[in-house]
Amino acid sequence: GRGIVVAVDGPSGTGKSTVSRQVASRLQLSYLDTGAMYRAATWWSLHEGVELDDQAAVAAVVRAMPLEMITDPHDPHVVCAGTDITEDIRAKELTEVVSKIATNLEVRAELKRLQREILAQEARDGRSAGAGVVAEGRDITTVVAPDADVRILLTASESTRLARRAKERHGVADLATIEATRDEVLRRDADDSTVSNFMTAADGVLTIDTSELDISQVVEGVLGAIADHT
Ligand code: C5P
Repeated sequence: GRGIVVAVDGPSGTGKSTVSRQVASRLQLSYLDTGAMYRAATWWSLHEGVELDDQAAVAAVVRAMPLEMITDPHDPHVVCAGTDITEDIRAKELTEVVSKIATNLEVRAELKRLQREILAQEARDGRSAGAGVVAEGRDITTVVAPDADVRILLTASESTRLARRAKERHGVADLATIEATRDEVLRRDADDSTVSNFMTAADGVLTIDTSELDISQVVEGVLGAIADHT
């Protein structure tokens, strides 16, 4: 039969990627990181030398992007034009400009189309018979896969999210590193919020507030929601 589609949205600092990967690996599902696709589109636009503010030019370049998403939750990676860009797309300089690409509505339409194609294929084939996929991002529960079998929004208080990001980037969350992280996180959230709502749950979407939970507790919560569905 058809595989399951699990959609997970939320802002950065909620543990979204780690949780989604662990859930996929526990259930032998595929894992699709849609943020990595926006990052890849940014990498490709820079690689092709288009002006990021030239929306039509960026959209044209992204439509021709030779992107391959490897959806193994144990070793997800991103290949573009034969180059493994999994590490490069995490660079600070790229992270600072990704919202320019993500607020380009023609780019969003193209990536939505690609994401739906991948989800349909994963739901059909799965990694093992009848498996499926966990897809995470900002608009998966609302725009890309509003008909997903299980839809979850991960949230956390702003202070929790900033502390987690500071720890991730600088190894420690103290006043200085939190301050250094604040601008990047809040500005990107504000920019991204102009095109999708990932702070409040849409109808039928289960919210898990991760502020007081560790990763394994959130994983259990998501697994529980999937078990309730099946
Ligand atoms: O999750 P991550 O930080 O890798 O996402 C990078 C960027 O991709 C986000 O800041 C946002 O601009 C964009 N994005 C999006 N819609 C998604 C996933 C990511 O606009 N579904």
